[in-house]
Amino acid sequence: MVRTKHHNRTPKRYTSRRHPPRLLVTGLLLLTAATLCGLFLSYANWRQLSDERQLKQEQAAQFAALDKRVAAAAQKKIDDAKKAEAAAKAAAAADEAARKQSAGQHPDGTVSSSICAVTIPSTLTVVINKKHCFSPLNWAPSDLASVQGYLLRSEAATQLGAMINAASAAGMGFSPSSAYRSYDNQVTTYNTWVAINGSQAAADTVSARPGYSEHQTGLAVDLQTSGCALECFAGTAAYQWLKQYASDYGFIERYPVGLTSITGYSPEAWHWRYIGVATARDMKTKGIQTLEEYLGIPGGDY
Ligand code: DAL
Ligand code: ZN
Repeated sequence: MVRTKHHNRTPKRYTSRRHPPRLLVTGLLLLTAATLCGLFLSYANWRQLSDERQLKQEQAAQFAALDKRVAAAAQKKIDDAKKAEAAAKAAAAADEAARKQSAGQHPDGTVSSSICAVTIPSTLTVVINKKHCFSPLNWAPSDLASVQGYLLRSEAATQLGAMINAASAAGMGFSPSSAYRSYDNQVTTYNTWVAINGSQAAADTVSARPGYSEHQTGLAVDLQTSGCALECFAGTAAYQWLKQYASDYGFIERYPVGLTSITGYSPEAWHWRYIGVATARDMKTKGIQTLEEYLGIPGGDY
């Protein structure tokens, strides 16, 4: 019996040494699984952080590129305005120099002083006023185009069309009542105002003498609404719209209130002059209302 007992115990110990208990195996398996699980979670976490870092870097690069584009666009706008102002000033200076040089060479038969000639009437920013006339007096532009049957120089016509469309979309209807006027047309216009006002002196406050009207540049347009032309235009919503948005289309109000001593004419809310978008916006930004002040050239009376 003793031997039998002994015999029975020995194989048990021998068996347990060669085959580890199930608990140990299960423990090892769980430990391995937990380790793998931990490794997987760490990897997933690292991947997520890495992806987020990459996304942030990409977004930062996109923002930097956008900032660069915005800065470049803003700079271009400033450069364009500066270029337009410099070109306009150079043209005005050339005109002024020529005006002085050619003193007395351009008699027009209607004024005693003939020191008035501008050399480049085709410049978008040319100033035609009582001290600056056309040379020759019957000069005419060569690129006239029609807007609703009224003629303006090509670029001005395109911009006037766009402005009329934009205003119309905003519920502000207006249309041209006069645009390009030749020297001969202005003879008729001026004489009509002399007759209406009773004297040349009175007509001179509202109408330019032939050869002195910027309507002859093909860059000026008179605007009206369906119910109102001339004086009443100042009281219309269309006029308020123009004051706010005309510069975006390159137009300025040429004869504003309170500036007769500079422009030479009584206020004309209906008379708008094309000078190019960059220059018109620059004048608005700087709060300068007259071309004479903006370009630093003389205006006022004959
Ligand atoms: N009414 C403007 C001044 C012109 O006759 O040109
Ligand atoms: Zn006019």
